[in-house]
Order: sequence, then C-alpha cells, then structure tokens
Amino acid sequence: MTQVASARRDVFGDDVLSPNVLDHVSLSKIVEIRDVLIEKQSRGEKVFRLESGTPAYNLFPAVAEAIVKAVRDNKTFYTEGTGIRPLREAIAAKLQRKNGITHDCNATTVFAGQGGMGTLYCVITALCGSDDTIICPSPVWESVSNIAKLSGANVVTLDLKEELGFNWDIEELAATVEQTKPRLVIIVNPGNPTGGVFPKADTERLFELVREHKLFVLEDLAYEDITYDDDFVNLTEHAHATNDPELYRQFIPVYTMSKSQNYSGLRIGYTHLPQPQLSERFRKALLYTTNGINSLAQWGAVEALDPKHDDEIGRMRDGYRERRDALYAGLENAGVFRLPGKPKGAFYLFPHINRDLLQERLGSSQTLPSTDSDPTLGEWMSKFILQEGIGSIAGTFFGPSAGEHIRFAYTCSVDDCRAVAARLTELFG
Ligand SMILES: Cc1ncc(COP(=O)(O)O)c(C=O)c1O
Repeated sequence: MTQVASARRDVFGDDVLSPNVLDHVSLSKIVEIRDVLIEKQSRGEKVFRLESGTPAYNLFPAVAEAIVKAVRDNKTFYTEGTGIRPLREAIAAKLQRKNGITHDCNATTVFAGQGGMGTLYCVITALCGSDDTIICPSPVWESVSNIAKLSGANVVTLDLKEELGFNWDIEELAATVEQTKPRLVIIVNPGNPTGGVFPKADTERLFELVREHKLFVLEDLAYEDITYDDDFVNLTEHAHATNDPELYRQFIPVYTMSKSQNYSGLRIGYTHLPQPQLSERFRKALLYTTNGINSLAQWGAVEALDPKHDDEIGRMRDGYRERRDALYAGLENAGVFRLPGKPKGAFYLFPHINRDLLQERLGSSQTLPSTDSDPTLGEWMSKFILQEGIGSIAGTFFGPSAGEHIRFAYTCSVDDCRAVAARLTELFG
C-alpha cells in the first residue's frame, strides 16, 4: 500500500464500504518501483529504467503529423462509438494483410478500444460472467488475470513450465479443461513476463480442445511485432488458415498499438469480433466504461496502421534484439542466474535466480530469504539492485510459482543495457 493510501485509511478506516470485487485485485507493483527510481532521478542520480514495458522508440513522425492535423481540423468531438470508419477500415485491412484474419473481417467486425487494457476489459466482460470459468497462464502480466477476476468469472491459473520455454504442458491443459469446463482460455503470445511463444507442435492439440469443448481462446498479441523467430505465426492466424468456422470463430485476438506503434500514452487497442452477440456486448462495455476512445489518437492510428510503416517496425524489432542480446550476455556473465535460453519474443528477460550461487557470491555479508518466504528471493534481489538505481520487477508479482525469478524490461537504451549488465557482473560476478 502507498504511504498516501495508508494515511487516508487511518482517517477513514477500512470498513466504510461493503466488500467488492475490486478488493480481490491488486494495484500494479511497477508503479511503486517507478516512483523510487523517479525520486532518485530527481536527486540527480543515474537510474536504469528496466522495470516497465514503456517502448524504447517515439511515435512515427508521420503519425505525430496526422494527430496535429486532426487538432487543426477540429476533429475533437464525439466519434462513432466503436471507432471512426477510417480507423475500422485500417484495422480490418491490417488484420487481413498482416495477421491472416481472412474470414468475416471488415469495418463492421473490428472494434477499437481504450488501449490493450481497455480492449481486454471489454472483450473479457463481454465473454464471461459469474457462471463461467477462465483458464489463465501463470506467470503472466498481472493485469490480464486481474481483468479476468473483475468479470466475476472463476479464474483457474495453470502454471507455465520453464523447461518448456514457459509454455503449458499441453496435456495438463487438456486435463484442466476436462475438469473445469472453461468458457475461455487466455493465451498471451508472446508472453509477458516470460517472452515465451506458443509452440507450433502444440497447435493441433489445442485446436482439438477448442473443437471438442467449444472453448473460446483469447490471444493477447500485444507483442505481435516483437518476435525474434522469422517463422512466428500466431494462433488466430493458424485457426483462420484451417477455413473451419467451428474453429476460427472461437479465436479472439486482442491487439494494442502501445508496443508496435509506440502508442502507450495514446491508448488504442483493437479486436476482431464477428460474432454478433459478443460484439454487441463489447459495444455496451465500451460505451459504459469510456464512451468511445480519444478522437485524436484514432486519427493518428489510421496513419500508424498503414503498411508504409512496416519498415520502421522492423527496425525497432532489430533494436530490441540488440538490447536483448546485450542484457542476456550480461546476465550470463553475472553467473547467478539460470537462463532458459534467449526469449523468442516481447522485450523482457525473466531469469531464475540461482540461490546457492548467489549466496556463495555474496558470502556472509547478506542473508538471503529462505525458500517460500515473504519476501521472496526475487523481491529481495529487486530491492537490492534498486538501491543501485536498477529497476526490475520480482517474479512473484506475475504468479506465485515465480518467486525465484526477476523481470528485466530491456526498453532502455542499448548503452544502458550494457551498463546494467556490467553492474550486475560487478555486484554478483
Ligand atoms: C501482455 C500485454 N497485454 C496487453 C498490454 C496492454 O497494453 P496497453 O498499454 O495498450 O494497455 C500489455 C502492456 O504492457 C501487455 O504486456
């Protein structure tokens, strides 16, 4: 809890309100760590911002121009509830051209939302209620599991296996589906915090489960463009390629422009919902949460989704690859991390801390927390390196099975990635 919040609680007490679903989700840990780093920065200290997934790049210049033009043209009034027509056309064209969404994809079946988060919220609320079960991976970007909880559904978490590149054991998923009969399975592909991508080898088995149990699969594709394997193909695209409506209609992709188009502050996400009952519910969820989305961001998005920017996206991907490799080499040198190989996507490293080696390197000067303790080993390390001005997030905040992991976001400069790598080697190597 923040100091301000606890001070207010002293004044107002904790029993003013009756229990609410919001009491069962937490605020993001990133904010707390970010505050410490900003405070250090304001005192003139050098800090390394590896705690959050803010993109490393700026808005494409032509997009900034389009937004300025929209201001000058007074495009600042209410827009169509589901996004301006040019945006919906641009989204549909992009989904067909780049994402292989070949069926039922047009300006009436795609919907824009308030960033990835807002779009996920509206999609999950439209799909599930208190009679439903949702299977969610763990560890995972905590917001997605929190949104699942807010829908009122029963959320079952299923651990990803580090030894499988942070993927599910597909037969374990099959058994969990059999047992819990979920309405929805959420797959974050590539994963945050893990960088894992869904294995091609498991795709057919997943499709069998979808057909047999009439499951919906929500594929969170926030990092669709930050993949380091040329042959990455997402699940929704595979499903459309089968031409089987019983299958592809069950796949709901959710995109954000935050990472691919450096749009994190402008807040545009989008999805493909050809099923009328679902799309009508989505429209209601959007209406009664944000009443549509920012008009200027929409006009910029029309420009940003144009294929002429694909090269810029490719250059960003190369830049992230360079950062990944620099930081990965540094973590290897530091010698206290167990690294499962370079991640195939997103912009995070999620190493497992080797407790014995770490204790050996630190000697008797530091006592590490014991296994399963509070704080966890990841929390201990995150706090330890925060004193050095290095931001990170302990694995615990992504799921209870990741207490000995720590997440580094490599969205700072390449030089900062190298400097962090050198500092970690000094501290632990
Ligand atoms: C996996 C994943 N999905 C969705 C989002 C949401 O993105 P937005 O910033 O557009 O809300 C994020 C943001 O970090 C993310 O990591």
